[in-house]
Amino acid sequence: MKIWKTLSMRDMTITKGKDSTVWDSNGKPYLDLQSGYWCNVLGYGNPDLIEPVKEQITRLTNVMSAFRTEEVEVALSELERILPAELNRVAFLNSGSEAVDLALKIARAATWRTGMVVNDRGYYGATTYPFSLSWSGKDAPYLPDPGEVHRLPPPFCQSCEHGSREDCRDFKCLEHLQSLVDEGNDNIAAVMYEPIAGFGILVPPIGYGVKLREYADALDALLISEEVTTAPGKTGRWFGFQHDGIIPDILVLGKAIGSGFPVSVVVTFSEVEERCGNALRHVQSHQNDALTGRIVGTVISVIREQGLVEEAARKGEYWLNALKELMEEFPIIVDVRGRGLMFGVQLSQDHVKSGEIIQEKLLEEGYLMDFHSSSSTFRFFPPYVITYEEIDSFMAALRKTLITIE
Ligand SMILES: Cc1ncc(COP(=O)(O)O)c(C=O)c1O
Repeated sequence: MKIWKTLSMRDMTITKGKDSTVWDSNGKPYLDLQSGYWCNVLGYGNPDLIEPVKEQITRLTNVMSAFRTEEVEVALSELERILPAELNRVAFLNSGSEAVDLALKIARAATWRTGMVVNDRGYYGATTYPFSLSWSGKDAPYLPDPGEVHRLPPPFCQSCEHGSREDCRDFKCLEHLQSLVDEGNDNIAAVMYEPIAGFGILVPPIGYGVKLREYADALDALLISEEVTTAPGKTGRWFGFQHDGIIPDILVLGKAIGSGFPVSVVVTFSEVEERCGNALRHVQSHQNDALTGRIVGTVISVIREQGLVEEAARKGEYWLNALKELMEEFPIIVDVRGRGLMFGVQLSQDHVKSGEIIQEKLLEEGYLMDFHSSSSTFRFFPPYVITYEEIDSFMAALRKTLITIE
């Protein structure tokens, strides 16, 4: 019996983790710069999360979702502390994919429309509808037809054909939205965006979200902030949409909100809930679980009480500055970008092979990192609890490796 191979697997067995480090079956430690699959932001085995979860598992995990639980009430009040007051209707689910799925369903049910606007390079999840909107799934012949989909050029400022960079104000990559407004399109249910796209860590200039909010309003569509990778806290703000000072109609959270446990959250306005009325049917076995409530409530309170959003901002700035210095030294690096502890290091397009070699060499040195060859970019999602010593040790190892490549 073998695991079904849906992705390329390494011949390596991980046996345990503590803080920002995991160990393989030979006892070799690795500093995990990915937080698992961009999830374990509180670090491995963090007692502030694990102890409450242990207690919860022995007492109550799942009850029929028709019942209220104290744990879900606590999670709601924790969310209330960090979210704009308008975002006040919440569903607790299990994975990012199903949360995006529900967000899309809500948008269609609230508007009685079917059209979607997405970033062409977005990844929205593995279930069929989100996957059919994703770059990696859009040509898959086995998926149901997603209907009317508008795919915007990605905010890939580094290779913008209009020469725009961080100071961009005209957002030519959003021109298609203007044409939808001009032609009077009345079938757009939602405009969905990631405040930073995981594909190559595409960081749109401030103002991008504002424009999307304006276009969504002009189209009478809902704005979905797809924050499975960007929240809570990863960009140095609780939520990515806050960098633009906007409020989306629907917010989707996953990955970090469970810090290693399979948890996701969809939040919307009470008005959106009313617009859906009875049209929206959605009941799942593990919807609003007591265990999920305990995890979400604990993750938010730990981040809040330990000031980890501010930590992510500080550590991210420190790290980005160090990477920018490295960029001066090594011409193979063409861009360093990110916010907080979500950042990328792009290599020149003719160095994709070097990226793979660097990744392997650093694995041997005990660093887990991710090279995304389609964008020639190393993507970093380190845990918020990573120490400055660990950052420095990685930077020294990276520099040593780059010298062997040049
Ligand atoms: C932006 C984004 N949305 C949705 C998902 C899907 O989340 P999950 O894998 O938890 O289902 C991912 C996963 O990588 C993601 O990066």
